[in-house]
Amino acid sequence: MPNSSLPHLIESPQEMREMVEARRRAGARIGLVPTMGALHKGHLSLAKASRQACDVTVATIFVNPTQFGPQEDYSRYPRTLQADLDLLRSEQVDFVFCPSKDAMYLPGFSTYVEPPSVANSLEGMIRPGHFRGVCTVVLKLFTSAPADIAFFGQKDFQQALVIQQMSRDLGLPITIEVCPIVRDPDGLALSSRNRYLSTEERRKALSISGALHEVRELVAAGHRDARVLRTAMQKALLGAGIDSIDYATIADCETLQELDQIQDAAVALIAARVGTTRLIDNEVLAPPSGATVRD
Ligand code: PAF
Repeated sequence: MPNSSLPHLIESPQEMREMVEARRRAGARIGLVPTMGALHKGHLSLAKASRQACDVTVATIFVNPTQFGPQEDYSRYPRTLQADLDLLRSEQVDFVFCPSKDAMYLPGFSTYVEPPSVANSLEGMIRPGHFRGVCTVVLKLFTSAPADIAFFGQKDFQQALVIQQMSRDLGLPITIEVCPIVRDPDGLALSSRNRYLSTEERRKALSISGALHEVRELVAAGHRDARVLRTAMQKALLGAGIDSIDYATIADCETLQELDQIQDAAVALIAARVGTTRLIDNEVLAPPSGATVRD
């Protein structure tokens, strides 16, 4: 039965840190679910994973200005705080950290995290400065809510790799857990940006998961030439009337270097635009040796 007094809403980074530190001193294991709000079942699956693994779950809601480019959708990014709180209550999340822009970026703020090299390709190439903003805010969220485990979604495949590498490189005392993509029954990966899509655009957007599915089938049938697989994805997307493709590629699961041949550790990744909406999705085709694909 959801406790109607939960979640506790906290705006001050200092209050958030004191709350988390007090719970940790009392022996609680803390799970952190960083989000930009406009929550959907994908986010809620992260909250569920945290509730299973931890004693206390903190979700964060902060639309981070430093990870948006000047032409991107920062100002129109959906802000749905009340609905988000209701959803987090239904998942029995304990705290929601919801700082203001000024609390996160004090006047004169000028220190940024230089992202690791896995940030250089794909999203990093197309959205210059994006991962610098992501790494900076995530490190600040980890400082405000010093949790044991932070939960991120596989849909942002490159983001998860970047955060894992940043955490390793900087020796951050937090485990990064990556949870599977959640999809609508028709295959569309859940995204806060799906709400921008008209019915016709949504139909076109389905070709993204469709193209990934096709590649998975080709790989299962024995195809290993990544150039053939890339062409198949592009044909599927353009054939469905996708407006433009930022990338549709096959890359190494850990380095994100583009592959010519699939051996192991391969992921197919797509970023494409439908109307003015930019969507990303991916499918692990072969996990790194020793790892398993969770789906
Ligand atoms: O994935 C997101 O929603 C954001 O990039 C994150 C990790 C919350 C940082 O702002």
